[in-house]
Amino acid sequence: MAIREQPRIFAVAVAGSVVFGVMVIASAYVVGAVVGDVVVPAVARGSVAVGALAAAAAALFGLSVLRVVGIFGRRLGAGFMQFRLQAAYRRRVTRRYLDLPLSWHQRNATGTLLSNANSDVEAAWHPIAPLPFAVGTLVMLVGAIISLFVTDWALALVGLAVFPALFTLNVVYSRRMAPRQQRAQRLRAEVSGIAHESFDGALVVKTMGREAQETARFAARTGQLRDALISVGRLRGLFDPLLETLPSLGTLAVLVVGAVRLRQGAITVTELVSVAFLFTVLAFPVRAIGWVLAELPRSVAGWDRVRRVLDATGEMSYGDVTLDPADPRPATLGFADVHFAYEPAEAHLPGTQVLGEVTFTVPAGRTVALVGPTGAGKSTIASLAVRLVDARSGTVTLDGVDVRRLTAGSLSGTVALVAQVPFVFDDTVRANIALDRPGIGDEEVWAALRLAEADGFVAALPDGLDTMVGERGASLSGGQRQRLTLARALAGRPRLLVLDDATSAVDPRVEAAILAGLRSAGPDTPATSILVVAYRRATIALADEVIYLEQGRVVARGTHPELLATVPGYADLVTAYEQAEAEGEQAGGPGGRSRPYEPVVPLNSGLDVEVDR
Ligand SMILES: Nc1ncnc2c1ncn2[C@@H]1O[C@H](COP(=O)(O)OP(=O)(O)OP(=O)(O)O)[C@@H](O)[C@H]1O
Ligand SMILES: [Mg+2]
Repeated sequence: MAIREQPRIFAVAVAGSVVFGVMVIASAYVVGAVVGDVVVPAVARGSVAVGALAAAAAALFGLSVLRVVGIFGRRLGAGFMQFRLQAAYRRRVTRRYLDLPLSWHQRNATGTLLSNANSDVEAAWHPIAPLPFAVGTLVMLVGAIISLFVTDWALALVGLAVFPALFTLNVVYSRRMAPRQQRAQRLRAEVSGIAHESFDGALVVKTMGREAQETARFAARTGQLRDALISVGRLRGLFDPLLETLPSLGTLAVLVVGAVRLRQGAITVTELVSVAFLFTVLAFPVRAIGWVLAELPRSVAGWDRVRRVLDATGEMSYGDVTLDPADPRPATLGFADVHFAYEPAEAHLPGTQVLGEVTFTVPAGRTVALVGPTGAGKSTIASLAVRLVDARSGTVTLDGVDVRRLTAGSLSGTVALVAQVPFVFDDTVRANIALDRPGIGDEEVWAALRLAEADGFVAALPDGLDTMVGERGASLSGGQRQRLTLARALAGRPRLLVLDDATSAVDPRVEAAILAGLRSAGPDTPATSILVVAYRRATIALADEVIYLEQGRVVARGTHPELLATVPGYADLVTAYEQAEAEGEQAGGPGGRSRPYEPVVPLNSGLDVEVDR
């Protein structure tokens, strides 16, 4: 398969290797001829034939040059092929990660993904490097055996005994090696997984005093990896000397058998020297076959893991209906009898239903607030609206078109989600907001920052828009981070804005100001429809309509005063939240930030952070 992907380079490598092989055999015969026809007569005569010696030297030099060219071609070709394939597959795997749906990511640990893209791809293509060498060696071996038979049958028998023995030893070696290598490869992934998780969850690890346990967990797994690698080394230590000695024994046998045959007059000195030399030089290349065989199991293990990613299903298919992203009018969002369940952790379990019979509309240019207790399904509705996930049944529509029929570009050009947990790239403020999208210059960035009430703090940063924000925005406060992600969404001038609790860490007055600003379309403000998950009375009161959700179902809908008057659950929730907020302010929390912003913990870190409402 590798050959199919890079045929020309492979041909170069194999050609180089074959040239090398032929030259090795030829050089054995030239050395034999030099000894038999030049050195021996010279010793007998007591004088050196200068002409013959010069010719011999020239011949050996010529062969060496060709051999060097052969090695160069092979190395270059093999290297090219190996690294090109690795790079190509790394790109393919990472590209695939981005295409796979959110549900797939929630089932697979980040550490494993890193290891798939790195060490597994590397392992998969590792045997490519010695492969041309091995092919060349096979050619060399066949040539050697034939030339042995031409020379003398007795010496040929020695060869027939030694080479297959060497080969068998190699096969046994790689068979024993396979499971050890596979285990080591799996442990590599696990070690990287644990490391990633504890660094990523550093905040929780530290605040909960889990340093010792995390270190122990990591140490246990690295210990296992160490043991696995040592067992690989031990096997290598056992077999390597054997593989070294066998060819020397072969040379010894050749000399013994050769001496007898020489006395019988069956062969000449020239031939004996040639054969003995052949054995010495062949020992090393034969091992190349062994390397390939030994690397193969690790490669197969790596390849299996890479293929699991490449073959993973669940990729979203897009339709071909386009919506004009430059359309200045706000979009209409519709949910019609939507049911949704997250995929269960294990395939045979039924997924628990999260949403049922959800029907509502966000009319063009209107603001709808989504209110409900924790776990009611608000974030799930937000994910459905931007098509991070698809409904089990029912339809989600944008401007009346089923979102599944839209092109990927139409979706991202029309709706923007500001997620509950803000994500900020380790880059400048400008890059975080513009994201390399065309038509977003500094002017647009500042306009978006103004709308998100973030222009003040960005202007105060040491390098303004050029300030690096640190990994995941580590140098920013939670509220600043949230406002940056909001500005990022606004910079794209979405026709529908979905705010999932996007300003929870922002001062309530500022939150209300932001929403009020977004609602009043002006020269700077894009006209947009808004679906907002909110808790604060001041924010909710700005909405044209409130949808009240309980356990995945729409329980009530209407204006804020209507719901407050008629739905007891709604009134309780809003009042309880308001009280908590007031207590937070009394307690002197900065800017009444009673609802702590969630620490940045990825979805699949397995560490639950309870946020008290
Ligand atoms: N990836 C997931 N896999 C399985 N179940 C999930 C997943 N995400 C959420 N759930 C479940 O779906 C339900 C709704 O979750 P959702 O995140 O939509 O709630 P929410 O209303 O946004 O809550 P909050 O106010 O706490 O943000 C919850 O019971 C939750 O346990
Ligand atoms: Mg949520």
